[in-house]
Amino acid sequence: MNTTAHADNDTPISVIGLGLMGQALVGAFLKSGIRTTVWNRSPEKARTLVENGAVLAATAADAVAAAPLIVVCVTDYDVAHAVLDPLADALRGKTVVNLTSGHSEGARDTARWAAEHGVKYLDGAIMAIPPVIGTEHASLLYAGPQEVFDAHEATLASLGRATHLGDDHGLASLYDVALLGIMWGVLNSFLHGVALLETANVKAGDFAPLANDWIGAVTNFVSAYAGQIDEGSYPAHDATIDTHWATMVHLIHESEATGASAELPTFVKELTDRAIAAGRGGDSYAAMIEQFRKRTA
Ligand SMILES: NC(=O)c1ccc[n+]([C@@H]2O[C@H](COP(=O)([O-])OP(=O)(O)OC[C@H]3O[C@@H](n4cnc5c(N)ncnc54)[C@H](OP(=O)(O)O)[C@@H]3O)[C@@H](O)[C@H]2O)c1
Repeated sequence: MNTTAHADNDTPISVIGLGLMGQALVGAFLKSGIRTTVWNRSPEKARTLVENGAVLAATAADAVAAAPLIVVCVTDYDVAHAVLDPLADALRGKTVVNLTSGHSEGARDTARWAAEHGVKYLDGAIMAIPPVIGTEHASLLYAGPQEVFDAHEATLASLGRATHLGDDHGLASLYDVALLGIMWGVLNSFLHGVALLETANVKAGDFAPLANDWIGAVTNFVSAYAGQIDEGSYPAHDATIDTHWATMVHLIHESEATGASAELPTFVKELTDRAIAAGRGGDSYAAMIEQFRKRTA
């Protein structure tokens, strides 16, 4: 895996899809001085970009013809295919970087389609919101052949930190949803904590600094547990699952006693009950991985 952040403006680029994200992508390419052609189903969304130097293509075919590198950012893979499939012949020998969100199966299917038509293909995921595109706060993940990534790395670096995950085209989507899952886990736990503390008249703003400190501390657990998971051995250097379980009972009790929702901690405790029933009570929390693996594994 490698990560880079430097720009190059030698390769002209075409961007298909000018929604909120597509417009941000084009803005970043233009800022880097890259000659950028754009196409969108609704051409009026190109107005400001054209004022800033983008060239508006009349058709998607014109956009494909205008550059060797075509970035696609539309609603979903069905839309991406609806636009690209009729242009397969024109795309032969060119590179498509698909930054549309989707799932790994769609990415691998699209990679097969690209290979059948002689199109070089990278699948991507954008771990950022439009306002930070083009800054160091934007992280973009790419999956597909190393040499295709290497050929366009400098151009893609205009959008933010570019990380190549590997040859398997499904990896960007898998990382995408895995990372988003972490986001929802953290945010839901924070919101549950806010609901608990509100019952004692504590403002979310007063909870936030300690919540952020704690989220930072938990990242250390992630690194330590990753090593244990990879080794398949879960010595409890910090706390056992039994100890975690007892504290979960406190959280459920507090939730019920204060009238906050107990659904989230009850679900977590149910997973932990299963781990203990499987004999993992004396292991570190990393052993909970078994509750998340395929049930048939
Ligand atoms: N916004 C974010 O914060 C964010 C973050 C990470 C990833 N993403 C991903 O980026 C992709 C685009 O998101 P967005 O926020 O830009 O969405 P959006 O504002 O809703 O834009 C959707 C784009 O898809 C086009 N489109 C939809 N249906 C079409 C069709 N049948 N034929 C041709 N074009 C069609 C739209 O064209 P029209 O303008 O003509 O409707 C527009 O260009 C999504 O996959 C999203 O998950 C977004």
